[in-house]
Amino acid sequence: MDRFDSLKDALNWSWHLLFRATQQRQSQFRIPSIATVGIDGLPSNRKVVLREVRMAERQLYFYTDFRSAKVADLQQQPLLSWLFWDARRQLQIRVKARAQLHRGDELAKDKWQRIPVPARKDYASITGPGQPLEAPDSDLPPQWQSESLDQSLTEYAFEHFTVVVSTAEALDVLLLHRKGHQRVQFNWQDSEWQGEWLTP
Ligand SMILES: Cc1cc2nc3c(=O)[nH]c(=O)nc-3n(C[C@H](O)[C@H](O)[C@H](O)COP(=O)(O)O)c2cc1C
Repeated sequence: MDRFDSLKDALNWSWHLLFRATQQRQSQFRIPSIATVGIDGLPSNRKVVLREVRMAERQLYFYTDFRSAKVADLQQQPLLSWLFWDARRQLQIRVKARAQLHRGDELAKDKWQRIPVPARKDYASITGPGQPLEAPDSDLPPQWQSESLDQSLTEYAFEHFTVVVSTAEALDVLLLHRKGHQRVQFNWQDSEWQGEWLTP
């Protein structure tokens, strides 16, 4: 893809690259930022791993710990903004989305079963993310020091594991190009994507 020839091109290419980021570890879209608005009304952003993309459903997924601040933000205001940047392609995609939290349900169970033992560490600390500690430590129970930890000793962390399914409401795509930048906005309206070119 050089520059976009049509709105349809821009939409399909954007979703294609987002989907590919979940399949290819080296994709620059794999680790976007998400922004939420806090209980204090202030915005926060942070990196997450893009776990799944379903274009037909307009869904983007990430995983998190239920005890993290972003979950409290989303419980209060279930809206978030994704920011993707691919330096090689000079492409920025911003997505405004509505979030749904899945914890302890069938969807969460299905995803949890596929998470290998070492990766379960991200949900396994004794205190929740962002809690004060006496010393610089990851606050994991002692079993995590074992090189070959039995999966059964990681199951307790399922209680914290949360899948955030976000449904896109709007996309803003910006392509930087020496022949002229291009920007396009898509809004989900009347059950379809309505696009228009914008001044970059
Ligand atoms: C490269 C990278 C990937 C990360 N992936 C995730 C992730 O997928 N989910 C997550 O909850 N936190 C992830 N984090 C940690 C968050 O950026 C953040 O520090 C943590 O979740 C606490 O955020 P909060 O206090 O705003 O909720 C990642 C951090 C980095 C640097």
